[in-house]
Parts: sequence; C-alpha cells; structure tokens
Amino acid sequence: MHYYFITGTSRGIGKALVERVLQEDNTEVFGFSRKQSIEHARYQHQEADLAATEALQKEVADFFPHLDDAERIVLINNAGTLGDVKYMGDLENQGFAHLFNLNVSAPAILMNQFIKTYRESEGEKLIINVSSGAGKYPVDGWSGYCASKAALDMLSQVAQMELDKRGQGDKFKVYALAPGVVDTNMQGEIRATDKGNFSNLDKFLDYKNEGTLDDATHTAEKFMELIQNPSRFKDVLQDVRKY
Ligand SMILES: NC(=O)c1ccc[n+]([C@@H]2O[C@H](COP(=O)([O-])OP(=O)(O)OC[C@H]3O[C@@H](n4cnc5c(N)ncnc54)[C@H](OP(=O)(O)O)[C@@H]3O)[C@@H](O)[C@H]2O)c1
Repeated sequence: MHYYFITGTSRGIGKALVERVLQEDNTEVFGFSRKQSIEHARYQHQEADLAATEALQKEVADFFPHLDDAERIVLINNAGTLGDVKYMGDLENQGFAHLFNLNVSAPAILMNQFIKTYRESEGEKLIINVSSGAGKYPVDGWSGYCASKAALDMLSQVAQMELDKRGQGDKFKVYALAPGVVDTNMQGEIRATDKGNFSNLDKFLDYKNEGTLDDATHTAEKFMELIQNPSRFKDVLQDVRKY
C-alpha cells in the first residue's frame, strides 16, 4: 500500500493532489486542513489548524500511525499562505507569526515527526515541501512569503543531507517543489492586491487574462511524475515547470 499525508487538502493544489493520488488503486490518503471537501473510501480527513503551533506540537505524533504494509509513504507539506501583501513598515506585526507558523513551523514539525516515525520502516519514504520561485528571489510586497519559502527550501536541503549522512538517503528522499503559477484561490488573492503594495500586479493579471496559469490538476500530475520516479530527480530543489 502507498500512504500519503497531505496538508491543505480542502482546495487548490492540495485537493487536486488528493484526487490524483486516489486514482491509483493501492493508495490511502490522510488529509489535513481546517475544512473538509473530499469524501472517499480511501481518504481520511483530520480537521487541523496547522498555524496553531502549540496544538500541533501536542497532536502531531497521532497524525502518523504505524503502517505495517507500506511500500511507499509520502508526506506533502502543501498548506500555505501568502500573508498580507504590503511593504515592510506597512504590515501588521501579528501577521508574521501566523505566516511563519503555517509556512515554516508546521512543515518542520511534520517533517521531524514523519522522519522520527518512519525512518526505520521498509519501503520508500518521500517528503515533498511545496515551495515557490518566490523563495529564490525577492518580490516586493511578499517579504514574509519569500522568506518562508526560502526557509522551506533550506529545511528540505538540510533534511536530505542528514538522511544521506546517516546512510538512509537512498530510500528516503526530500524535495522542495516550486509548482509554477497555478490557478487557485492564492492567485485570486494576488490579483486582489493593490499595485502600490505589489509592483508585479499587472503581470499576474495578465497570467489570468492570457490563460497562462497552470491548472491544479495538471500540476498534480507533474507532482506524481516525481513521486513515482524519484530516482530520476537528483536535486532537492525542483521547478515543476521544467517537466
Ligand atoms: N497557486 C500558485 O500559483 C502557487 C505558486 C507557488 C507556490 N504555491 C504554493 O502551493 C501551496 C498550495 O497553494 P494553493 O495555491 O493551492 O493555495 P490555496 O488554494 O489558497 O489553498 C491553500 C490550502 O491550505 C490550507 N490552509 C490554509 N491555512 C491553513 C491552516 N491554518 N491550517 C491548515 N490548512 C490551511 C487551506 O485549507 P483550509 O482553508 O480549509 O484550512 C487550503 O486547502 C502553498 O504552499 C503555496 O505557497 C502556490
């Protein structure tokens, strides 16, 4: 059996990923988000606010059950937020904790617990952190978002390095995937921002008007390409637009 743990499954890329994974017969999915929007015999939903870090620390061990018959176990840290789009100096101070809790602390806690629970288990283990091109270069108005995705990239690179150093890296892979620009609620939030807070606004309006946004179903297909063929993908940091 192939087991998947996927965060942010109520909509967007996360929901499309669950639907794609469930097309394979030998899969079971555990999904985590505040709302549930998927019903399926092989889907179990856990309502969770992953930005509530203290509660997550207490509950996370229960998220990962003992899995006797696992040929592949996959954690996909997909839940994320753009946060407020404003320049540094104009942001509300309380927004930072929520953004970094959801985009960085939750994936870190889930990765740590996942590795702790499954590193000795037979079969293939994969962690996929949904990153962004915005973690690789600065974007005005997105300071917290850019910083959070850069942190996720580095968490991924260090985790893979450590697994390799312990001789576990051949059966345990970690990736930070940048999905490209995908037609989800998050893109709608980007288009609803003010040009004075985000100089790239016109570019993102054009993506929608010109139909160049990727479809979440197509993005999920590309994620599966990597999940089913990890030996073809050597680098931790992956840009899915390239395949
Ligand atoms: N769309 C793009 O163009 C794009 C580009 C690059 C990277 N990404 C990344 O892709 C990932 C998915 O983005 P998306 O575009 O699919 O966004 P989305 O449509 O806004 O979906 C976000 C998902 O995260 C969940 N979520 C939000 N806050 C949560 C919380 N506090 N606790 C638990 N779950 C929470 C939401 O579920 P609930 O609201 O039900 O909790 C939802 O299922 C994100 O990490 C994003 O940074 C997206």
